[in-house]
Amino acid sequence: MKKALVATTLLTVISVSAYAGSAFTVAKDSVTYRQSAFQLIRHNMADIGDMVKNEVPYDAARVSKRATALATLTTLPWEAFTVPGAEQGGGDAKAEIWQNLQDFNSRAEKLAADALLLKAAADSGDQAELRKAFGSFARNCKACHDDYKN
Ligand code: HEC
Repeated sequence: MKKALVATTLLTVISVSAYAGSAFTVAKDSVTYRQSAFQLIRHNMADIGDMVKNEVPYDAARVSKRATALATLTTLPWEAFTVPGAEQGGGDAKAEIWQNLQDFNSRAEKLAADALLLKAAADSGDQAELRKAFGSFARNCKACHDDYKN
């Protein structure tokens, strides 16, 4: 009886989500998805930034955790810009993205590559290396926003 109930509930959940689609099929959801990823990028980066600026005591394990998160998070937003219908816009994405998709994607790849360097610096425990890697990583944000974000 209990098993049957669980099975029915599961089936309902699965069919509802299949009906609703996902961020990888529905343009409107893809905007929420990529903005959520950017928010997580911002917060993880900000915590490292606070330590680099000595506003929060340096904690090697915490820096590594944030940098590990960033190495994954920086790979996430981009596919949400090529969901069918995404080029119709939404969010703060500028139309220029879809006119220069190659440039946009190469900047996205650069961010993810710099996140890996940041993680390596974080894991090394060398604070001077961390500061340098953090500066390079952070420069990607403004450069792309200036050209592609409203
Ligand atoms: C390759 C281009 C690119 C790079 C690099 C980039 N962003 Fe963005 N970012 C965008 C675009 C485009 C948007 C607008 C997305 C939207 O509204 O759909 C955005 C939006 C955001 C937002 C707002 C999300 C929201 O809730 O509306 C934040 C926060 C953000 N980015 C943080 C960052 C940080 C921090 C970095 C650097 C570590 C970064 N971004 C790097 C292109 C980029």
